[in-house]
Amino acid sequence: MNPVFPSILSTNFFNLEDKLSAFAANGIDFIHLDIMDGHFVDQISFGPSLARAVSERFRFGLDAHLMVGNPEKAAAHFIQAGVDWISFHAETATDIGGLLRRIRADGCRAGLVLNPDTPLERLRPYLADLDYVLLMSVFPGYGGQSFIPATLDRVSVLKKELAAQGSSALLQVDGGIHPGNAARLKEAGADLFVIGTALFNAGDIADTIKEFENQLHWSRS
Ligand code: DX5
Ligand code: ZN
Repeated sequence: MNPVFPSILSTNFFNLEDKLSAFAANGIDFIHLDIMDGHFVDQISFGPSLARAVSERFRFGLDAHLMVGNPEKAAAHFIQAGVDWISFHAETATDIGGLLRRIRADGCRAGLVLNPDTPLERLRPYLADLDYVLLMSVFPGYGGQSFIPATLDRVSVLKKELAAQGSSALLQVDGGIHPGNAARLKEAGADLFVIGTALFNAGDIADTIKEFENQLHWSRS
């Protein structure tokens, strides 16, 4: 699985099909869908209908990042729309364990998201119920923000904690990732990399994906 997960938040929707076709032609396996409802975060992005359109047109795995006030309700709609992975913010759910188990029971991978200022300890009770952890390296709500350097420490602490607990959960990072910090994130222990602006603003998508793959020591063959 290609560790580069392009986020389509920052794209001009009139160019979306071309961009997604370029990703498909350059070895991308998963697309990250940033779902924003204007309550948990200021912005409103897009809903299940876009997820369904992408899943019917392309063969990508779809990873929905729910930045919404009611993840219980939203998760059901995105599962119906055909997404494969669903992550939601620990800051928003009332019954975190219950929702993780429900997402899994509906056949999706379940992920828990922590904001940059949410202590890693919040994850501890749920390690057995999750398939991946998303550590935000920006505060959620907008693409194009600067990477928060303290994320590197959080990644290495969490990586050690997951190993100590015998968890096989993958460690995903999202926000401000670019060719200048991807290698350090990988060294710190990150497995999956959500990349928006650095990809969508790239002059040549094929070269930029290749550059990230080299930095992440990942090859398609
Ligand atoms: C923030 C979003 C962004 C997006 C990636 O709420 O989750 O982090 O996915 O954006 P870039 O790569 O543009 O920082
Ligand atoms: Zn995201």
